[in-house]
Amino acid sequence: MEYTIAPHGGRLINRILEGEKKQEWLERAASFPQITVSKVTLSDLVCIATGVFSPLTGFLSEEDYKSVRDSMRLSDGTVWSIPITLPVPEEKVEEIKKADYVTLTDSEGTVIAVQEVHSLYRVDQREEARKVYRTDDEKHPGVARLLRQSPYYLGGDIWLVNRPDRGRFARYTYDPAETRQMFIERGWRKVVGFQTRNPVHRAHEYLQKCALETVDALFLHPLVGETKADDIPADVRVKSYEVILKHYYPQDRVLFGVYPAAMRYAGPREAIFHALARKNYGCTHFIVGRDHAGVGNYYGTYDSQKIFTQFTETELGITPLFFEHSFYCKKCAGMASYKTCPHSDEDRVILSGTKVRQMLSEGIYPPPEFSRPEVVKVLIEGMREKAKTSL
Ligand code: ADX
Repeated sequence: MEYTIAPHGGRLINRILEGEKKQEWLERAASFPQITVSKVTLSDLVCIATGVFSPLTGFLSEEDYKSVRDSMRLSDGTVWSIPITLPVPEEKVEEIKKADYVTLTDSEGTVIAVQEVHSLYRVDQREEARKVYRTDDEKHPGVARLLRQSPYYLGGDIWLVNRPDRGRFARYTYDPAETRQMFIERGWRKVVGFQTRNPVHRAHEYLQKCALETVDALFLHPLVGETKADDIPADVRVKSYEVILKHYYPQDRVLFGVYPAAMRYAGPREAIFHALARKNYGCTHFIVGRDHAGVGNYYGTYDSQKIFTQFTETELGITPLFFEHSFYCKKCAGMASYKTCPHSDEDRVILSGTKVRQMLSEGIYPPPEFSRPEVVKVLIEGMREKAKTSL
């Protein structure tokens, strides 16, 4: 029997136009108001069109937006924790009001999508920040991005006319329909998804392998959409994933793919969102460790786990696997966590992200108990290259 988990909302969305329909809409697109969209919106468009954000068929209407912002559900009750919205410039508002459709283009003017003009509304960005990010501090990178945008949002269904090419990581980019098929072909019934915006350090590897002990396969799915400037660039990370997979992972039980969405740094709400997106890719389980999708000190260490209690297993439809803070313990002589290790912090190899980034930029290897030397080598070389090119 073929088995895959149902997409969120029951149906995998596909909003990509092909053939005659594509031609027809490309011609029509020339007469609609044109809106140049940001890189974040471009990635949202791809995610909506390929079903990563199922059941969304477009950007949120005012009704859905308020419902998601206030109660983490679409207006029909489906769980949805992050508002996926299209900000439009204020000077375009009058023109858009008179139109039935708009054309969304990239920064070079290439037509990417058309969107129905269904709901044009003005939002209170600070209220959105406080509810979605739990802060309106402008130092929070997600809040900063939100406050830079226009407060006018356009909701409505989209159709992708020209898919942006799959980019630098084309060979690792799979749509949900493709991963679902791959899982079936490989006979994987239980697949655990892993989100990351970092290289795979020993703690990440520990979480993944603990989870893999009890399921059929691991879908290692790092985010490669927009991140904040001081995160390690995606191309360097991808090289580091390649080496760790080659040396330390069972090839027949791991699929490596990239997740095209932008990082929001919304902590708890983004953990739910990450889980739902991975369900759409066909994952049955999803790892949530300490401070998932967090930044700075805006969220409690386990807030991203606690938020799952607000929903039933049935309405989420994917099983979260929670892990406590993990590290190498010298007394245990192995990887462990606050849950399993009885020793003290002096025995544990724990380094902050900031410290690790500083060591890497100075060419210093963090200890092998923290990160595999093969990974560190790639990261140090990658950071050196970046420093050279940015001179
Ligand atoms: S995230 O922003 O993509 O969540 P990161 O790449 O740091 O950030 O983490 C990926 C996943 O690993 C998240 O689920 C996170 O909670 C978990 N994680 C990272 N480091 C640890 C750790 N030392 N112990 C437990 N979980 C961790």
